[in-house]
Amino acid sequence: MFDADLIKKVYEQMPNRVEKAKKKLKRPLTYAEKILYAHLFETQTLETFGRGKDYVDFAPDRVAMQDATAQMALLQFMNSGKETTSVPSTVHCDHLIQAHIDGKTDLSTSFNVNREVFDFLESVSNKYGIGFWKPGAGIIHQVVLENYAFPGGMMIGTDSHTPNAGGLGMIAIGVGGADAVDVMAGMPWELKMPKLIGVKLTGKLNGWTAPKDIILKVAGILTVKGGTGAIVEYFGEGAESLSATGKGTICNMGAEVGATTSIFAYDDSMERYLQATGRAEVAEMAKELKDVLSPDPEVYENPEKYYDQLIEINLSELEPHINGPFTPDLATPVSEMKKVAEKNGWPLDVSVGLIGSCTNSSYEDISRASSIAKQAVDKGLKVKSEFTITPGSEQVRYTIERDGYINTFEQMGGKVFANACGPCIGQWARPGAEKNEKNTIVHSFNRNFSKRNDGNPNTHAFVTSPELVTALAISGRLDFNPIEDTLVNDKGEKVKLDPPTGFELPVNGFEVKDAGYQAPAKDGSQVNVSVEPDSKRLQLLEPFAAWNGKNISGAKLLIKALGKCTTDHISMAGPWLRFRGHLDNISNNLLIGAVNAFNNESNKVKNQLTGEYGEVPAVQRDYKANNIPTVIVGDHNYGEGSSREHAAMEPRHLGVKAVIVKSFARIHETNLKKQGMLGLTFANEADYDLIQENDTFNFVDLESFAPEKQLTVEVVHADGSKDAIKLNHTYNAQQIEWFKAGSALNLIRKQNI
Ligand code: F3S
Repeated sequence: MFDADLIKKVYEQMPNRVEKAKKKLKRPLTYAEKILYAHLFETQTLETFGRGKDYVDFAPDRVAMQDATAQMALLQFMNSGKETTSVPSTVHCDHLIQAHIDGKTDLSTSFNVNREVFDFLESVSNKYGIGFWKPGAGIIHQVVLENYAFPGGMMIGTDSHTPNAGGLGMIAIGVGGADAVDVMAGMPWELKMPKLIGVKLTGKLNGWTAPKDIILKVAGILTVKGGTGAIVEYFGEGAESLSATGKGTICNMGAEVGATTSIFAYDDSMERYLQATGRAEVAEMAKELKDVLSPDPEVYENPEKYYDQLIEINLSELEPHINGPFTPDLATPVSEMKKVAEKNGWPLDVSVGLIGSCTNSSYEDISRASSIAKQAVDKGLKVKSEFTITPGSEQVRYTIERDGYINTFEQMGGKVFANACGPCIGQWARPGAEKNEKNTIVHSFNRNFSKRNDGNPNTHAFVTSPELVTALAISGRLDFNPIEDTLVNDKGEKVKLDPPTGFELPVNGFEVKDAGYQAPAKDGSQVNVSVEPDSKRLQLLEPFAAWNGKNISGAKLLIKALGKCTTDHISMAGPWLRFRGHLDNISNNLLIGAVNAFNNESNKVKNQLTGEYGEVPAVQRDYKANNIPTVIVGDHNYGEGSSREHAAMEPRHLGVKAVIVKSFARIHETNLKKQGMLGLTFANEADYDLIQENDTFNFVDLESFAPEKQLTVEVVHADGSKDAIKLNHTYNAQQIEWFKAGSALNLIRKQNI
């Protein structure tokens, strides 16, 4: 499945390009810089780009899309005027499969419920030359790691955990569907040159610590915003001691610190993984380029000189961590959990332990978790919590079944869900969740925002390694520390769990009967893609209207969002996933999770036309019906979390003109720009406090919208008083053209037709 010719081409060009960049910059390069400079778009001139400052045009090698985001990406691509994608691209059906009974049953239910969407994705893939991974084939990031990721490569994916491929030394960046359309249409892909955070790993993991603990620790240090606009590059002897899949886990969760991506340099672990996954040819090519596929030696010697920020972690001293609840950066070492949980009143009984997901379902993860499960069976321990396993791919599932691990989990009462996202994305039909009872779950996934897993806002979700999830599920307690504590078995004896053991890769190799891949038609021109006009799930897109060239005036405040407002708050997942291909229907979830700063309630805002309170989408539709523009106001890191562009398209579709916040999460800010929205930040953060419930906004200088030039909005309050508020923006000239054209896609279409 991997494209050897493409990789060969990248490797042929890379040494020369890296050399040129070194000459231009007159200094040694980090690994991330080498890949970035080797992937400049053909029309991009080589310069010394300012990190965190200059926008650069890149040419990624490939694109991956998951089924939820692919719908909108492909609906947009269909409007681009292209006949096939310009770079190899794949679609992965993983998000739409709900976890309920067991893998087999849930998969067949999903086929019935989502047939229309799967058929659409399959036919569009077939038509435009896109590889199609069927439902049940696995989770996008695991499948990409197993088949497509390669050291030195650059890819984008319409999912925020795309950086998972950094485990194989690839720069892999999560984007919105509109970015995927750019790359598939052969256009340059623009990114602000990222800053660089170096993480030096010394020592070696031991006992109960796992690669997951490294990123849980990093998340605690950097917080959910600390990596914004930066690539996190790991190095040091500790890095080399980790498996490629362990590295993948760390890179995957770099999304939780807001990082653009995370990466490890090429090493033996990557060679082993490439060989084990049928890509010895790639390993051979990469080996030849080892020097190019790692930082220059001077970087190792003087890292503080080459990274904008440097973190050092000694793996030999690292403790297992449990992060949460409700945010992935609330890091607690296992030895302190008892004290911290009691102090915070977190429920101590663990109701469910869940392992797997794109983050943690490698062969190594499963074999190590299984070694703990086996001890429960062998030592006569009664497992206290429910336990589920979500394999990352059919290849992993088939192999772990063959090697007896699934059987071990089943003996301890575990249930195996489909190879899909399931409980990780709110696609978990958890019995009783609707009662909204306060409870604790522990999982090996990456995110734990409120309602993320089962829709219950009172579920306290904690993130940890699969090994620790298994131990906590056996004990049934959040404050169980397997390093110190004992459990009582069925004979009344005190027993201790030994530290996990496992295999980096299957001794007898990976095996799979049907990996679930479908190659596209050689000539897709005759393939028909149909969307029923009355479909509730899919809707062909109408281009957004171009800007009329005038200042926006008389805009009403739709909502002033208080505190955390992630893309889950803006465009909720769970049951709404089914409308990801239907812009009008999914717009009915606009901001329903956001907290209104004036009443501290969700989905209850004032309609300034009627003076009554209503649900956000209904109020916004009323403004739209009356041709009244609106503005959304938000707090810090607005739009953190997923890459879904629905969070930008919905307000655009419903007539919101501008989003003004204290700060943005990167992907969401770009998504707003691509959809022709104004994404602006308060020049003076304290001006957020000036915004009142009955405010009207008049932009005074939008007609002279220009790069690096502040905008001013006059805010008129109910008593007639006014505040002139200065707004910053990061639009460059090209992005201002998107705004003027109504969207980036409107410009692409113009160029292709
Ligand atoms: Fe899926 Fe969860 Fe990963 S939603 S892609 S398993 S983060």
